[in-house]
Amino acid sequence: MEQGSQVPHVIIFPLPALGPVNSTLKLAELLSLAGLNITFLNTDFNHDRLVLHSNILDRFASFPGFQFKTISDGLPADHPRAGDRFMELFDSFKLVTKPLFREMLCSGQLNSITGESVTCIIADGILSFPIDVGHELGIPVISIRTISACSFWAFFSIQDIIEAGELPSRGHEDMDRLITSVPGMETFLRLRDLPSICRTNNLEDPNLQHNAYANRQSVQAHGLILNTFENLEGPILSHIRSQCPKVYTLGPLHTFLKFRLESENALLQSPAPNSIYKVDKSCIEWLNAQPLKSVIYISFGSITVLTRDELKEFWYGLVNSKKRFLWVIRPDLVAQKDDEGQIPMELLEGTKDMGYIVGWAPQEEVLAHQAVGGFLTHSGWNSTLESIVAGVPMICWSYFYDQQVNSRFVSEVWKLGTDMKDVCDRVIIEKMVNDLMGEKRDVFMKSTVEMARLANESVSEGGSSYCNLNRLIEDIRLMSVTAVK
Ligand code: UDX
Repeated sequence: MEQGSQVPHVIIFPLPALGPVNSTLKLAELLSLAGLNITFLNTDFNHDRLVLHSNILDRFASFPGFQFKTISDGLPADHPRAGDRFMELFDSFKLVTKPLFREMLCSGQLNSITGESVTCIIADGILSFPIDVGHELGIPVISIRTISACSFWAFFSIQDIIEAGELPSRGHEDMDRLITSVPGMETFLRLRDLPSICRTNNLEDPNLQHNAYANRQSVQAHGLILNTFENLEGPILSHIRSQCPKVYTLGPLHTFLKFRLESENALLQSPAPNSIYKVDKSCIEWLNAQPLKSVIYISFGSITVLTRDELKEFWYGLVNSKKRFLWVIRPDLVAQKDDEGQIPMELLEGTKDMGYIVGWAPQEEVLAHQAVGGFLTHSGWNSTLESIVAGVPMICWSYFYDQQVNSRFVSEVWKLGTDMKDVCDRVIIEKMVNDLMGEKRDVFMKSTVEMARLANESVSEGGSSYCNLNRLIEDIRLMSVTAVK
């Protein structure tokens, strides 16, 4: 496609879910700070929610070359787009969003604010159709995955695992079997540590098939951006590079953006919004009154759903541990709603003395608070990176998708915490909290302090992510020069 100008104009197209939208917004801000023209293409549904709960429009108003555009995800407004039904998005993307995206590009609807054509598309690799459309129209595409390199590599290897006969699973008693066909993970990856979509006895399962296929598609793109850093995932990144030679590790993106804003003395230095819920800042006052490193923070991210029984097991475990705790209980965290009266009195009493509960916390600020000494997490990749940067050890209770792989790496490879995978029992929770906040604390602190230092180093001048961002910007500039020739 003939382009009209040498000014790079990048379309950023995230997967429409909170984590990926947040990380790609941070990348969008970093590229805007570098002077590139950016069009952030969000689904109508996600854009409306983002605008409702954050200051996102003001935040980007200071970049003259930045604009938001929206596209239909093809689903009716009342579709939940969550839980089991999230995957329905992929069928409607194929049917509705893909042709619409092509048409918007061809008709100039996605031209930059100053009228330039698109010179590069950065799209979430799991969407895969932007790669096809880019190829068709001669626009270079760079994939972005906002999950860890280790989980990306596990997804990437699903086809090999199947071909090696290591899938399907043969039921519960089979879950500790070692999986040997993911290069670099042969000695510690068990069946229970594979992405949760592998927990099926049907190899034709559409979810399994889609993930196996779409992750392989990333090699068709000009490059692959990952929100991680070399010192954390170097060995796995070497394996990924054997398949996708151009990998740009830019993480941790939230820290990178913070550093860049500080060094640019930018007006907007507050953390970028990451909220689709109303943030309750009263927990910071509560934390201010707690002793140093005495509080365990509990949050399961934005989409985990607990059963009533699981909620109670966690609650008993926390109260029985007699440690102070700050817990995020989202309004939609628990599957079945019961009235308050059904929470046993001893839990409410125990919480009054030692705990504090909010609907949504300012998580980065909480993790950086001096009173916080541990994090009980679902091992979502953003939460994991935020904990690493803050130097806070973790207890992992993975829920689904990439989280099973992340939690194995946190405990077995990086030694940044413990993994409670597939167990939800008050006695174990009490013990793990006591270990993490007590006896075993020193063991974990050594690795968490060191990893936090390396994370900060990677985004500082001369660090790996710092250099990779410069390389990415140069490559994007080159693409726009090539496009006008
Ligand atoms: C999803 C997937 O579930 C996860 O597996 C994948 O790695 C990323 O996309 P989510 O479950 O929401 O994300 O988890 P996570 O990646 O940890 O992101 C949660 C974000 O919400 C974090 O940035 C965290 O800081 C923020 N958060 C969470 C708050 O700001 N306040 C809260 O109270 C809880």
